[in-house]
Amino acid sequence: MKVLAVGGGAREHAIVAALVRSGAEVYSCMKNRNPGIVRLSKECLFADDHDVAKVVEFARAKGAELAIIGPEGPLEAGLSDGLSKAGTPAASPSQSAARIETSKSFMRGLLRRHRIRGSVKYEIVDDVQEMHRALEELGENVVVKPTGLTGGKGVKVFGEHMRTKDEIIAYAEEVLSKRIGGSAQIVLEEKLVGEELTIQAFSDGKKVVPMPAVQDHKRAYEGDIGPNTGGMGSYSQKDGLLPFLRKDEYEAAVRIIGNVISALAKDGSEYRGTIYGQFMLTKDGPKVIEFNARFGDPEAMNVLSLLDGDFVAICEGMAGGTVSRRDARFAPKASVCKYVVPEGYGTKSLAGEEIVVDERAIEKDGALLYYANVNEQGGKVFTTTSRSLGIVGVSEEIAQAEGIVERALKHVSGRIHVRHDIAKQEMLDAKVRRMAGIRGEQA
Ligand code: AMP
Ligand code: GLY
Repeated sequence: MKVLAVGGGAREHAIVAALVRSGAEVYSCMKNRNPGIVRLSKECLFADDHDVAKVVEFARAKGAELAIIGPEGPLEAGLSDGLSKAGTPAASPSQSAARIETSKSFMRGLLRRHRIRGSVKYEIVDDVQEMHRALEELGENVVVKPTGLTGGKGVKVFGEHMRTKDEIIAYAEEVLSKRIGGSAQIVLEEKLVGEELTIQAFSDGKKVVPMPAVQDHKRAYEGDIGPNTGGMGSYSQKDGLLPFLRKDEYEAAVRIIGNVISALAKDGSEYRGTIYGQFMLTKDGPKVIEFNARFGDPEAMNVLSLLDGDFVAICEGMAGGTVSRRDARFAPKASVCKYVVPEGYGTKSLAGEEIVVDERAIEKDGALLYYANVNEQGGKVFTTTSRSLGIVGVSEEIAQAEGIVERALKHVSGRIHVRHDIAKQEMLDAKVRRMAGIRGEQA
């Protein structure tokens, strides 16, 4: 089957690899020249993936029978709708259904209107006077979120990125005046305390087929400090849970995702594609931090490296309304992913620097390599301002998978930064202890 894949990051490299494993002939569209995707694709269109007309024409010219869109930008631009109208059904949501990610105020409103459990106290703020009123209502222990897309980088948390009420107001003024995220609107939310986790699911608009839980690490520096990033690395456990996550809590989070899918269908925005729920596991169970209308990045690298089923059949099922649990089987193994990013990523990335990658040595060490937002020129790989590549290890236990990743990372050099602490035993133990404390249990 001829499949169009959109996007040029490591998530998309993992998507394309899974498509090729299940027999697809892949046509890719991306802005940068991702060497991993280029190698696996029959043909590539190097173009802005927000250019709906251009991508639709490429799909038509190549006879693509199915499409999958990696990043959120093209979803917001209506690429899924454009492709479907032109005869290429997409395993990615329509512009309207993608509002679950592209508008945080829409997401919170949907949960409130449909009385879906797991939401938080929040206020929508359109000007500074409202901001003062909202802060009276919620107190200062809040999170400030531009309502639109900011690549995971626009959210500021009290106590971490803002320390006083004046700083909260100053950031709100900045978001409103500069229209950060594309509009002058803020979602002001109560700050949650707990452990974060991701659950992704395949959906055909009605059914929801969940994937193993994953934990990403959004902060740039070791010890979970520093600016928020797109994600620095992630891990999953062989039973699909996480060291600090119980089965009943996983199931409660999956129910929330199912309720969101039903609510969207009721409101006339049927959701077909991968949905991503990010939750804070609190003492009262999982609470919604955000939804994404796509695979997570890095989380896609975890789950797609474990996928045993037929990914093309899953995508056809999502696009066509017939997704089935039978196709979505995951190896009962742990996975660890660590991102290699340019020095300065999170504040000011060092772009245009060469990174040297010994692909054969990485393979020999049993690790998987997914290229991200790099550019290949003359056989060399250069950084951009975004993340560079993901290394994934798969094994019985998290510790073994983490060891594979660390050995493979020695074969990547350049002016790069990696969070080596991700998935280390001390860090996992600390999370289990912290969660036990939050639940009021003895560790
Ligand atoms: P988001 O872009 O919504 O995923 O937010 C980025 C990061 O901000 C999340 O990964 C959390 O670490 C943090 N965050 C977002 N919302 C909340 C919240 N309500 N309470 C505490 N932390 C939050
Ligand atoms: N890992 C966070 C995201 O994909 O948005």
